[in-house]
Amino acid sequence: MKKLILLAVMCLATVACSKKTGQETGVIKIGAAGQLTGPEAVFGADMLNGVKLAVEEWNAKGGVLGKKIELVPGDDQAEPRQAVAVANKFTAEGVVGVVGHFNSSCSIPASEVYHKAGIPQISHASTNPKLTDQNFDNVFRVCGRDDQQGKAAGNFAVQKLKVKRVAVIHDKTTYGQGFAEEFKKNLGAGVEVVAFEGITKGEKDYSPVVTKVKSANPDLIFFGGIFTEGGLLIKQYKAMGGTAPFIGGDGIMSEELLKIGGPATEGTYATFGPDTKEVPSAKGFNENYRKKYGEPGVYSVYAYDATNILLQSIKNAGATDGKKLIAAIRAIDYSGALGHIQFDAKGDVKESPYVVWKVESNKFKQVK
Ligand code: ALA
Repeated sequence: MKKLILLAVMCLATVACSKKTGQETGVIKIGAAGQLTGPEAVFGADMLNGVKLAVEEWNAKGGVLGKKIELVPGDDQAEPRQAVAVANKFTAEGVVGVVGHFNSSCSIPASEVYHKAGIPQISHASTNPKLTDQNFDNVFRVCGRDDQQGKAAGNFAVQKLKVKRVAVIHDKTTYGQGFAEEFKKNLGAGVEVVAFEGITKGEKDYSPVVTKVKSANPDLIFFGGIFTEGGLLIKQYKAMGGTAPFIGGDGIMSEELLKIGGPATEGTYATFGPDTKEVPSAKGFNENYRKKYGEPGVYSVYAYDATNILLQSIKNAGATDGKKLIAAIRAIDYSGALGHIQFDAKGDVKESPYVVWKVESNKFKQVK
C-alpha cells in the first residue's frame, strides 16, 4: 500500500513538473508546430528555421522577462490527428504559446486544444478562413486567407489570362478544396468550369484524373493543394500532351514543385504574398537566415515574424499568463520583416496582399 501511495505521489509530481511553465522553471517554452517529417517536410524545416532564428536572436539579447526561451518543436506530419496529439503534448509540457501549424487541416483541430488551454496560437501559413472564423480569442495568423487568395487567383485568370474554360483539381483537404471553391466563386459568368475533381493525397499515379481533365479541353488548370501532388499532376498532364498552364497557391510555392514536376512546371502560376527579397524590412532576416540555414522558404519569414510577435507580446504583457499574453498579441502594432502587422478582431492580419508568381527558367518569379 505504502509503495502504491509513493508511486501515486511520484506520478503526480512528474505531471506537475512536466506542466511547469517558464515562470517556475527558469525558461519560457514556446511551441513550433508543422510537418517536420513526411513528404512535405521541407515546409516544416522552413518554419522551424524561421522560429529558431527569432529565438536565437532573442536569447542572444538575454531572452525575455529575464528568462531564456526554449523552443519545443512538434511534428504533426501534416496529419490532423497528429496535430491534435502535438497540441496536447505542448499544453501538457507548459508551452506558453505556439507558432504553427502549417496545414489548415492541422491548425483548425489543434486550435480547439489551444483554445481550451487558453494559450495563443499564431499560424504562419494556414489560410483556410475557418481558422479565424471560429472566433477563438487566442487564434491568430500572419498569412492571408483563402477567400483573399482565391479572389487573387480568380481575378488573374479572368482579367490577365482571359481564360474561358477552367478545370479545377483539389486534394480534398480543408485548404485544397476550400481554396478551389473560393477560386471558382471568383471566375464570373463568362468562364466555364469544365471539370471539378478531387484527388487523394499521397498517390503516385494521377493519370485517370489527368486524362479526364485533358479531355475537357481547358485553357487553365487550377490546383488546390501542396507541391507533392501538384508536381506530379503537372508532369503527368504535360506528358500526355496537355498544353494548358496550371495555377495553384501558397501550397505549391516550393522549389520542390520544380524538382518533382521537372521542366513541365515551366509557366506554372501561383498566388502568394509579394517577394520578400525585394522588401527592405526583410533584408536583415534574409541575410541572417541564409548565413545559418541557407535559402529561406517562402513561409520562413512568416514563421520568423510570428515568433517575434509572440515573444514581443510576452515582453509587452510582462507575463506568460495566457489571458494577458493573448490581450498583448491582440493589441500589438508590430514592424517586422514582412512589414507592418496588426490583427483585426478575428485574429487575421489587417493587410495581406496577394500577388501572382510564375515559374520562369526553373524559378518562381513574381509577375509584374
Ligand atoms: N495555406 C495552406 C493551408 O492552409 C498551407 O493548409
